[in-house]
Amino acid sequence: MTERIKINKLLCSDTTVDEVVVKGWVRTRRGSKGFSFIEVNDGSCLKNIQVVADSSLDNYDDIARLTTGSAVAVSGSLVESPGGGQKWEIHAKNIEVISIAPEDYPLQKKRHSDEFLRTIAHLRPRTNKYGAVFRIRSELSYAIHDFFRDRGFKYIHTPILTGSDCEGAGELFQVTTLDMGNVPSVDGKVDYSGDFFGKEAGLTVSGQLSAEMFALALGDVYTFGPTFRAEDSNTSRHVAEFWMIEPEMAFCDLDGSMDVAEEMLKYLAGVVQENCAEDIELFAKFVDKGLPNTIENILTSDFERISYEEAVEILKKSKKEFEYEINYGKDLQSEHERYLTENYFKKPVIVHDYPKEIKPFYMRLNDDGRTVAAMDILVPRIGEIVGGSQREERLDMLVERMKEMGIPLEDYWWYLDSRRFGNVPHSGFGVGFERLLMFLTGIGNIRDVIPFARTPKNIEF
Ligand code: 4AD
Ligand code: MG
Repeated sequence: MTERIKINKLLCSDTTVDEVVVKGWVRTRRGSKGFSFIEVNDGSCLKNIQVVADSSLDNYDDIARLTTGSAVAVSGSLVESPGGGQKWEIHAKNIEVISIAPEDYPLQKKRHSDEFLRTIAHLRPRTNKYGAVFRIRSELSYAIHDFFRDRGFKYIHTPILTGSDCEGAGELFQVTTLDMGNVPSVDGKVDYSGDFFGKEAGLTVSGQLSAEMFALALGDVYTFGPTFRAEDSNTSRHVAEFWMIEPEMAFCDLDGSMDVAEEMLKYLAGVVQENCAEDIELFAKFVDKGLPNTIENILTSDFERISYEEAVEILKKSKKEFEYEINYGKDLQSEHERYLTENYFKKPVIVHDYPKEIKPFYMRLNDDGRTVAAMDILVPRIGEIVGGSQREERLDMLVERMKEMGIPLEDYWWYLDSRRFGNVPHSGFGVGFERLLMFLTGIGNIRDVIPFARTPKNIEF
């Protein structure tokens, strides 16, 4: 038996082949005097292989009934295609009909809206566009591991179940085995002593605090895993479950971590440009004409670096009417972020040194006493794609800050311990993987770059 070959490999062939076996799904079938032309796709690449079936085949009646979405196993010979548009085609010697898709198969030839495809998220990876999205998603995941591995970073699996709210923004999804119909309480408060962990627990919003513990042991580390935020914001850039890449580096200051983040984004843009050319071409045609330029822009421009204070000045001086007024001390809204990167600098911008009041407890206080060593990377169309900081390594300052913010010290005894033993300056950042994908594919809605999006009131699939 000849071994099955994937279509992406087959199309790279530089000779004819007597015997090949291809398995996949029918995209279209058309008949013409004595023949069927069947476009077969197996998901390995955007392109289909054209299969030519002669009516002399035993089961030609079945072949002539093949519908879009049906599954087949084809064996035959690979020959040069006389028709335009493709180099190779298969002359079938045998076609096994594995399954026939009935007429109500929703993905018939015509193009569907993204909104409609979200309602059939279980089928949408079978379309050209979503096939491409999820191939790029896979390619980028590997590239991220390559990037860090090449630079001597160790990959850490930080926990998903957690007892601490790293970002302190109160967006923790609670995890409990208590009976929700009969919640035990003492003095009007939930009594967690009988709960699975004996205390309040949730799904992690970030692996950072755990990653810090490992950076202080293994030097340079990173996590890459799912994170969860019960953030009730129904925007095109927020989901409740998303993947985050979080490097954490010992003996590294804020500038050092900006350098790594910039290098990483450039590296990944290069990978997409090189390894996903065919899929990117599709997006440039149907999603975002400017995409090849966006990618080139990342590769060739030095990211602008400005302080939060400078950013606020630029925004105040701009003649633009923002929905939210900007003043020193307020968080940048996405409209502000986009103005800076899209209109003003026209390239990625790193904003650093934010007022401490709008940032979490773990960021290092600057000498001015009012800002922290934080940085956000803003990119066109998306706004914030990376958030990071140098960490407060000075025990007394950290304790003071946590008290100021009302964070219970006893819950973080282990975190504070790391500042007592072998402590060093260290920094890190988090990249939102879905936002990165939006950026590198031109796709406008975060729901369309994750297999099954979790958003407020939506957990269908
Ligand atoms: O800026 P954030 O909240 O930073 C942290 O969580 C740090 N602990 C990271 C670190 O220093 N190790 O989140 C980091 C990134 C954001 O810049 C954004 O790209 C993405 O995560 N992000 C989201 N992506 C999709 N949906 C959401 N609800 C997101 N919230 C944050
Ligand atoms: Mg942030």
